[in-house]
Amino acid sequence: MPEISFQNTAPERWKADIMLVPFCEGEIESVFRPELDGAAPWFAAAPALRDVRGEKGELALLHGPPDVFVPRVLTVGLGKRDELDMDTFRKAMAEAISLCAQKNYDTVLLPEPMLNSLPGGWERLIEEAVCAVLLAVHRCDELKKQPERPEKPRWVSLGYAGSNSDCARAAMRRGENAALAVKMTRELANTPANLLAPSDLAQKAAQFAERYGFSCAVMDENALTRHGLGALTAVGQGSAQPPRLIVLEHAPEGREQENPLIFVGKGVTFDSGGLCIKPAAGMHEMKCDMAGAAAVLAAVAVASLENAPRRIIGLLACAENMPDGKAMRPGDVIRAANGDTVEIVNTDAEGRLALCDALVWAQREWTPSAVIDIATLTGACAVALGKGMAGLFCDDAELAERILAAGGACGEPFWRLPLWKPYAEHLKSEIADIRHTGPREGGAINAALFLRHFMNDDTLWAHLDIAGTDWAEKPSALCPKGATGFGARTLLELARGGAL
Ligand code: BES
Ligand code: MN
Ligand code: ZN
Repeated sequence: MPEISFQNTAPERWKADIMLVPFCEGEIESVFRPELDGAAPWFAAAPALRDVRGEKGELALLHGPPDVFVPRVLTVGLGKRDELDMDTFRKAMAEAISLCAQKNYDTVLLPEPMLNSLPGGWERLIEEAVCAVLLAVHRCDELKKQPERPEKPRWVSLGYAGSNSDCARAAMRRGENAALAVKMTRELANTPANLLAPSDLAQKAAQFAERYGFSCAVMDENALTRHGLGALTAVGQGSAQPPRLIVLEHAPEGREQENPLIFVGKGVTFDSGGLCIKPAAGMHEMKCDMAGAAAVLAAVAVASLENAPRRIIGLLACAENMPDGKAMRPGDVIRAANGDTVEIVNTDAEGRLALCDALVWAQREWTPSAVIDIATLTGACAVALGKGMAGLFCDDAELAERILAAGGACGEPFWRLPLWKPYAEHLKSEIADIRHTGPREGGAINAALFLRHFMNDDTLWAHLDIAGTDWAEKPSALCPKGATGFGARTLLELARGGAL
């Protein structure tokens, strides 16, 4: 990834191959300001500037004389000020940086005064600009012999001449860290299942723990059996790759005993559907069925890197859902970690089985301040909300509001769906304490209600269904085709926040 730096000097000394100048439509006068004049004195008089309007999506490349500190400017149209939102801003910055990469420019300058004049909050704009720039150039190509092209630009720096450099620097760092979390999530979720079994994921988690300074403990299949996590082990029993429950902990000094915020991620490293096998078309996408676990791992890692001000536990419920002679069958009855028997109906509804044991574990081992699970859980959620927003299930209005706000701030929209009690009827079993699927209709709600069955009434809990948002069919300015990393930023945002 390009290096992010800071040029905290008089604009006359800012230096880069190209300077980005974002501004709103019809506000060309906003670019005539002393800082830009200092950095690129030729710019205000550039003849081509007369054609620049600032329309949404407009990028205009202007050239100055060759022997100056800033010989090029790329104006970045943001559209009308009263229609400008953070998504438009992120996309515009990403498209601008993609153009710089395409042109092979090595170094890019982002003048902070131009951000300062935009709506949305100065620090947030810096954070989002930095994050967008980093995500726009990130490619998952470590499996290729040769990367498609060298990662350009080499660095992007914020030109700053104000007096609040500490805040600007901190905002930049938050943007960098947010991008790191998304990048980690994407890389993990894009990794093919043959290279990332549950035990590999455990190894990766241990490596990250070492690097970022949090703790990591792994329960292997024997430990899972010993502790009665029969639902998670049932999911993994048809695979040659045994299941794992990976336990991560970030505990800031002095807060080791605090009630932790617990994130639980679905870590199905491959979902073939099991004996209820999925159709071939699209099955390859199911290497991404651990995107929830990846987001949790990334969020805990980055929260630890930042030394986030609260205790956080991450639980990754990892298994591979495969159809061999030992696989669970439709009709089987298994025993979950809370002692309840579960009638298996469709072996493709494995995510809720992996998760329910982790949810029980979260409440047995700790007294959580809140539990938030995140999972590529149901195709029904993607059908209901499309691939742009994820489902949020939560009975607590305040927690729901916090999650909506956290997601909204970082470009990960959630939409609240109901935990509608009457549908719990669907989960009644004639032969066991509960069955794990209901009818096709309301599938996302049925899955959420199954999970709620395992929650104590007095534990704050939210369930995030990211099926659909986890995977991009087409590339976009901010994300190549494949895993999107959706959810990592929301969790990080929550980890950064105060009491929950
Ligand atoms: N991992 C899938 C859900 C999924 C589907 C995620 C498409 C991303 C894209 C999950 O394990 C699954 O198979 N769910 C079933 C549940 C059904 C059998 C009750 C589904 O949604 O069809
Ligand atoms: Mn499945
Ligand atoms: Zn699945």
